[in-house]
This record gives sequence, structure tokens and C-alpha cells, in this order.
Amino acid sequence: MGVVMAVPRHVACVMDGNGRWATQRSLPRTAGHEAAEAAVMDVIEAARSSGVTWLSLYAFSTENWRRPAAEVDILMRLVRRAIRKHAPVLHARGVRCRFLGMTDPRIPAPLVRDITDLTTLTSDNRRMTLTVAFDHGGRRDIVEAARSLIRSAMPPDQVTEASFAQHLPYSDTPDVDLVIRTSGEQRISNFMLWQVAYAEWVFPQVLWPDFRAAHFWECLDAYRRRQRRFGEVRQSTTMTGEGLR
Ligand code: IPE
Ligand code: IPE
Ligand code: MG
Repeated sequence: MGVVMAVPRHVACVMDGNGRWATQRSLPRTAGHEAAEAAVMDVIEAARSSGVTWLSLYAFSTENWRRPAAEVDILMRLVRRAIRKHAPVLHARGVRCRFLGMTDPRIPAPLVRDITDLTTLTSDNRRMTLTVAFDHGGRRDIVEAARSLIRSAMPPDQVTEASFAQHLPYSDTPDVDLVIRTSGEQRISNFMLWQVAYAEWVFPQVLWPDFRAAHFWECLDAYRRRQRRFGEVRQSTTMTGEGLR
């Protein structure tokens, strides 16, 4: 009741601000995506060493396909390069990697192959689960779950929040405890809608390519100071006669 676990079990990051980071430096937007890699690796290590066991990173949304083809193309290449470069170290550090979304046929086949390889390589790791939301849309996941549920022919009165959630992709994923969105934007942008229902949010005023372990720890500190209530009345503020005197 109103209890905050010292370390959030599941942290999710909306990695935002790459384009602005590059524009501030008179560089093409893609330079910002390139610079994002260092932040990603820093945050993975910071999360792992802090005892966070689930980390989700929003890398590409279903809406990001609306961007210029050249930017999308370079993003895909950068993701592939990063996977090939970092797969061995992620595996060595016990990180289980998986990708949430990944349905659009426009994702280049070599990237799909590398993602499959990384997922297979790391599937038995348990130190931390890294979910990369890639070609992800929260609404699409919910619609897919509804389709799967209908196919299962479950009687309507057996459809509960818990049984519905079992039809979501990667249904073993626990609810998100803390969402970090960098760059100052304050919106969900269709991110893991089901799983963030009761998450705490922080909005560090840092562009993603500048985000480092120290910023991550500040976010964990902010989380620790939050009082999660889940709709309840906290014991210490209950309006008992005692409390009113
Ligand atoms: C986030 O940075 C990365 C992706 C969405 C792929 P942006 O590219 O959205 O950067 P801004 O918001 O334009 O600065
Ligand atoms: C959300 O960022 C998606 C990712 C970080 C991958 P966007 O920059 O695409 O979101 P909007 O357009 O500001 O909502
Ligand atoms: Mg953005």
C-alpha cells in the first residue's frame, strides 16, 4: 500500500531528442541517431548494475515510418551496426535481448536476421531483459491481443484484464514502473500503452545523445522519492480521529 520499491523492476525509456541534438550542432539529424548509441550502451549498463531486471527502450515507432525515407534507412543501418557490434558484450553481461513490434515488411531482411540471431543467442540470459520497441505501436499491440483472444474463442465472461494481457506480445513483461522520456517532450507517443498504465514518469531536460548513467541514476532517485498509491489511501494520511487531533 503506497509502497515504493527502492529499485524499479521495469524501466522504460522514450529515447527522444536525437534530431534536435544534431540540429544544435548544425549536423544532419542522422548524426543524432548515430550519437544515440553511446547513451543506449551507458543506460543498459547503468540499469543492469543498479539491479533493474527489465529495461525497455523505444527505438522506432509505427509512426516513425512517416519520416523521410533516407532518415528511416539510416536508422535501420545504425541499429544493425549496433547489434552486430554489441551482441557479444550484451550476451556476456547476461542480458536477454528481444524486440517488440517488428511486423512491417519494410524492415530490411538482413536486420531481421541479425535481430533473430541476437534474440536466439541471448534467450537463456536472466540478469536483465532488454526489450527494444522497434516498429512498435501500443495500440497495435492491443489490437493484436484482441485478435488473438477472438481466435482463441474465449467465452466473453472469462475475458479479464489478466487473461487479456496474456495475449499481448511478450506477455511475461511486468508492468512498467518508471518511464524516462528525454528531451523535454511530455507525451506517450503510443508507447507500451497497456504496460505503462500505472507507471511513474520523469522528463529529464537532456537530449537522448547526451543521456548517461549519471542521468539514469538521477531518474532512479526521483522514482525513490515518489509515493505510488495505485488508487489507495496511504496509511499515514488516513483521516482517522487520531490523525485529526
Ligand atoms: C528520437 O529522436 C529517435 C527516434 C524517434 C528514432 P528524434 O529523431 O525524435 O529527435 P527529435 O525529437 O526530432 O529531436
Ligand atoms: C517517440 O519519439 C518514438 C521514439 C522515441 C522511438 P518521436 O519523436 O517519434 O515522437 P513524437 O513524434 O514527438 O510524438
Ligand atoms: Mg522526437
